[in-house]
Amino acid sequence: MEGTTVMITGASRGIGLALASELARRGWRVMAGVRDPAGVHGLLAAAQSAAPGSIEIIPLDVCCDRSVRSAAEETARQWRAIDVLVNNAGVFPEEGNETLEELPLECFAEAFAVNVVGVARVTRAFLPLLTAAPYPRVVNMSSRAGSVSQKEDSRYYCYSVSKAALNMLTRAMAAELRPRGITVVAISPGWVKTEIGGPKAPLTVAESALSLATTIDRMKPGDAGQFLDRHGNRENTAW
Ligand SMILES: NC(=O)c1ccc[n+]([C@@H]2O[C@H](COP(=O)([O-])OP(=O)(O)OC[C@H]3O[C@@H](n4cnc5c(N)ncnc54)[C@H](OP(=O)(O)O)[C@@H]3O)[C@@H](O)[C@H]2O)c1
Repeated sequence: MEGTTVMITGASRGIGLALASELARRGWRVMAGVRDPAGVHGLLAAAQSAAPGSIEIIPLDVCCDRSVRSAAEETARQWRAIDVLVNNAGVFPEEGNETLEELPLECFAEAFAVNVVGVARVTRAFLPLLTAAPYPRVVNMSSRAGSVSQKEDSRYYCYSVSKAALNMLTRAMAAELRPRGITVVAISPGWVKTEIGGPKAPLTVAESALSLATTIDRMKPGDAGQFLDRHGNRENTAW
């Protein structure tokens, strides 16, 4: 809905950038969290071509307490509330095909720091702004790689394990925050051509963002704690 406010983490490139552009095009007001505001040329171009003030850029490193706190404080200074938080920032720290013996174990910590702990840190910091909104929503950008029941290979150890943990975090946050009126979901954006998705992915960022924007707009309280595909369906994503 026009005028809806959204905070998106990891908006410098990839799906986060495309979603910021798509939501701004629909008349949403976007706070785009990025690690390095000086280096985000695509986002700056999107902000310039969008309606004035519809994309604000804010420094935000999801791994840094101080950065997240000051992003929340700065957002609170500019806006009274945020309607939607999209926890999109993510990393894929391994090559992907390593055996257990080859896997650099520090990749687990890196994946967890961004994909799991970062989500808890950002959501916690933005709770006061979310609770001030009439219908607050939190969207955690998950992945089919995080599905435990569909796991049949050994690829992407650290990424998969972190996204499975993100799914559990989603369920726990949804249960705690539902009585406070906040709807929390995990969404899989599809396999998308980005640095994480790689060049063989079938979807462009624009295609993924188009369906994600519609799904986020249509989210209902009954979706709380669900794992949705980018079209908002539950059937295509298994825990
Ligand atoms: N592409 C796919 O096929 C696919 C499939 C399923 C799920 N996903 C999920 O979709 C989300 C977006 O991924 P993508 O495909 O768009 O990948 P991407 O192009 O590599 O973008 C990742 C984004 O996360 C940001 N980021 C990484 N660490 C961060 C940190 N500590 N603090 C703040 N931002 C940080 C990056 O910022 P910098 O520019 O500063 O590095 C970048 O903006 C991720 O959660 C990913 O797991 C993607």
